[in-house]
Amino acid sequence: MSARSVAPGVLSVGAIDWDRRLFDDLIPLPDGTSYNVFLVQGSEKVALIDSVDSGTEMSLMTNLVKAGAERIDYIVVNHAEQDHTGTLPLLLEMYPEASVVTNKTCKDLLMLFHGIPEERITVVGDRETLSLGDRTLEFLITPWVHWPDTMLTYLREERVLFSCDFLGSHLATSDLFVRDTEEWRRAAKRYYAEIMMPFRNSIKGYLEKVRGLAPRMICPSHGPLHDDPELVLSAYDGWVSDEVKNEVVIAYASMHGSTRAMVEHLVDALIERGVRVRQIHVPSTELGELAMALVDPATIVIAAPTVLFGPHPAVVTAAYLTNALKPKARFATVMTSYGWGGRSVEILKGMLGQLKVEFLDPVQVKGYPTAETMESIRVLADTIRDRHKATTADYIGPA
Ligand code: FEO
Repeated sequence: MSARSVAPGVLSVGAIDWDRRLFDDLIPLPDGTSYNVFLVQGSEKVALIDSVDSGTEMSLMTNLVKAGAERIDYIVVNHAEQDHTGTLPLLLEMYPEASVVTNKTCKDLLMLFHGIPEERITVVGDRETLSLGDRTLEFLITPWVHWPDTMLTYLREERVLFSCDFLGSHLATSDLFVRDTEEWRRAAKRYYAEIMMPFRNSIKGYLEKVRGLAPRMICPSHGPLHDDPELVLSAYDGWVSDEVKNEVVIAYASMHGSTRAMVEHLVDALIERGVRVRQIHVPSTELGELAMALVDPATIVIAAPTVLFGPHPAVVTAAYLTNALKPKARFATVMTSYGWGGRSVEILKGMLGQLKVEFLDPVQVKGYPTAETMESIRVLADTIRDRHKATTADYIGPA
């Protein structure tokens, strides 16, 4: 990525990682990502906001040379995760005069992760400021926007907010600023689902904090920047709100067709009752798709056959992820099948302990689903319809 002007005295000097397809050996990146870094030039001092992941340091170094950054006084670290600090040790060697500016929690992590000497780190507190001469950086400590160390940095004179991971997207693009396309909306929602959703309740407050600044521009550390902040803020309003949609997500696997038959019967029964459904075959679906599907629905159903004495491992992974991401669903249940034994219902239910849901009666069958099984599924569909009628604003009944 070439260095580009973002605002007067602010250059974007980070890297686009077009080819990366996996983050943390966990999160799929179908659209790549970027590590955004900003050089802020004041009349007296120069600050660099964040850095890039190791492996992309050549882009950053080339851009700093092109920008004529012979001296950097401060390297602001908004968050210690290595995709933004992987090249910090190298930067500190290149710029021996530079101080790292961060909060106390992040300082401890930087010393642990990279062995950064304590004497090179300046700790700042919430709403503290740093003068660059004619420019002022203000720091907002925002723990649990994803990590406990996260902070945001605000360039007051230009009303530019450097929001770290918050409000970003894993999207490699040559566009400097967000264009309101389906591609960006999907990338932003996927990013929220995979990274931000567990912190939904903290984020509600931080959205207010951000709006209180009235930024004219928001520059996250991944993906294109926001020159129309309300676009992303209003998308977040919907995702973090307590409002759930008249929708059921069913995550399932099936070995010999029993669980699939149960799932298909439930899908048909829900459609007949005016409930929207998303049927996700876990073994053939990447986890990011499942994460995105968990953002809005009122009800989550996990369905698995039994392998030996427990649920199918692919569904175990899906249940673990669902529990970790803490979606806002109000209702959940499980459906399982088995041949000669097992505790799949109990295990799956136990895995969803972090969800604040009402557990609806599970459905379990030995062997292939019987007429009695299908009747239990129709009763489950009735219950889901009744709950959705009572709790969702978009239930309008069968077509
Ligand atoms: Fe993009 Fe939490 O690092």
